[in-house]
Amino acid sequence: MTDKRARNEIIKENSHQLRGTLAEGLDNVITGDIAEDDHQLIKFHGSYIQDDRDVRGERAKKKLEKAFSFMLRLRIPGGLVTPKQWLALDAIASNYANGTLRLTTRETFQYHGVIKSNLRRTMQAINAAALDTIAACGDVNRNVMTAANPYLSKAHRQAYELGKAISEHLLPKTGAYHEIWLDGEKVEDKSRKAGAAEEPLYGIHYLPRKFKTVIAVPPDNDVDIFAHCLGFIAIVEKGEVTGWNVTVGGGMGMTHGDTNTFPRTADHLGYCKLEQAVDVAEKVLTVQRDWGNRESRPRARLKYTVEDRGIDAFRNEVEKRLGYKLGKPKPYTFTGTGDPLGWRQSLDAKKGEDKAWNLTLFVENGRIKDRPGHSLRTALREIAEAGLCDFVCTSNQNVILANVAQKFKAKIEAALKAHGIHISVSSGLRGNSMACVSLPTCGLALAESERFLPELITALEDSLDKAGLRDDDIVIRMTGCPNGCARPYLAEIGLVGRNPGLYNLYLGAAFDGTRLSKLYAQDVGKERIIALLEPIFVKYAKERKPGEHFGDFTIRAGYVAATKAGNQFHADVKLA
Ligand code: HEM
Ligand code: SF4
Repeated sequence: MTDKRARNEIIKENSHQLRGTLAEGLDNVITGDIAEDDHQLIKFHGSYIQDDRDVRGERAKKKLEKAFSFMLRLRIPGGLVTPKQWLALDAIASNYANGTLRLTTRETFQYHGVIKSNLRRTMQAINAAALDTIAACGDVNRNVMTAANPYLSKAHRQAYELGKAISEHLLPKTGAYHEIWLDGEKVEDKSRKAGAAEEPLYGIHYLPRKFKTVIAVPPDNDVDIFAHCLGFIAIVEKGEVTGWNVTVGGGMGMTHGDTNTFPRTADHLGYCKLEQAVDVAEKVLTVQRDWGNRESRPRARLKYTVEDRGIDAFRNEVEKRLGYKLGKPKPYTFTGTGDPLGWRQSLDAKKGEDKAWNLTLFVENGRIKDRPGHSLRTALREIAEAGLCDFVCTSNQNVILANVAQKFKAKIEAALKAHGIHISVSSGLRGNSMACVSLPTCGLALAESERFLPELITALEDSLDKAGLRDDDIVIRMTGCPNGCARPYLAEIGLVGRNPGLYNLYLGAAFDGTRLSKLYAQDVGKERIIALLEPIFVKYAKERKPGEHFGDFTIRAGYVAATKAGNQFHADVKLA
């Protein structure tokens, strides 16, 4: 019988629990590359091999190998780092990477441009800061996101603690990470028969695809819970979490032209008690491990398992493995997916309490760097050096300066001002924008994203001014390909790269993250995007009902049909 399994399944099986030939590859100084199968395995260690696509053509002409370097992503459950860790991460950006830190759309940092000869040193520097990159990528449970800012309330702290507990519990147990990156000890004897004993939860094949877990505290849906495989929604009574609604089966990625693939919003699985959540997470993960599609990677995410088997069958299997039934989901309300920018006092701060302030700072597309007149990286380094606050990465690519004492507020404001950083943003649209990295590093990019969205927003701000909407919160997200790393299908305006300079334009997603968008125009460039959106802005400003969000309006006004479920994403499309 032919083996129908996806190639990655065989690579994992033969990898001796993610070791492959990574250690040997790192020692090979002839090339900046590593072995092809190791391209897949290194993801489980938190890294992607990439090359600078801006210079690809030129290097090919000169018959040089691609300008290889590595992207390195950290695992930071809940996105919280201390000032000391911030300083260590900042130093690594200069010592080993391209001088920037990138806040990702999943509450962590990425480095770009780490060359192979520096990889081990970078990993060791990250480890010295009591952080790691284990399982930041690959077919495992990835970085666990929790409602931004554990200092905001007791419920937020409980969500954060759960995030850390799930992250630890679902971490791969292989010794490969320590052997390859940290100890420098001889890698395991390759003749040893790969066994499941080293990975009691994952076995030798790990999961069929990546697995993403998030925890939300209503009314904020800042973690975009419905975009993720597994979610916990805090049910809060008298300021404390008493249990969690559980969601499963969300995900963004799809393939252009393949309607068998689609973004999907998660379903409610049920309700569990406070202390049952880690167990529930484990059982959901094992059902996906055993039921997920291992033949077709584009159909291997948990969202397709739930779609194909049905939520009831999925729930029955989870309950069977738990040995108890889940309760019915409890009522809750979400109001939005964004980060409230600016200063915010901790919600349960006692009168006169000192350390109760938090500043959410907009970071355009998450890129922390210095540019003339806007030295964000230096400002944040100075704030960390002075130990004025902790730092929390948000899932909207922003940073929260958290747990600030009243007396330090002015110091923080002065440090930001001295480096040209404003607390306010130029428009509601920009404040609610996200872009994935895309070019020049991402090998999958079809069009610009991070380097293009800021200028597109500047142009759209003129259109907003014409409609009088500059300060309105409208969510816009862009990605360079349909994989959807910046969750564009849950944005009120979503732009997804198809070809250089050309995007698919999606409208109609819900502001609170509960409804996907719908394709509105195909292969549109900058001028056409503006020409399409401007009249809609004007009409929205004139005709909206009180409190009506832009996404809801584009449906009511007939621009797009509502997408009620993932499997309806490609239905009822009428192009502009
Ligand atoms: C399903 C197919 C996907 C593939 C193959 C994929 C692959 C990649 C690659 C290669 C990068 C590195 C880009 C760079 O740093 O140069 C990246 C970045 C990233 N991806 Fe994905 N991705 C997928 C979907 C997603 C989705 C759905 C999410 C979130 C829900 C996500 C979250 C991220 C994050 C947080 C980053 C870091 C950079 C950023 O903030 O944009 N990815 N992805
Ligand atoms: S959405 Fe596509 S282009 Fe953007 S980072 Fe993800 S994989 Fe790369």
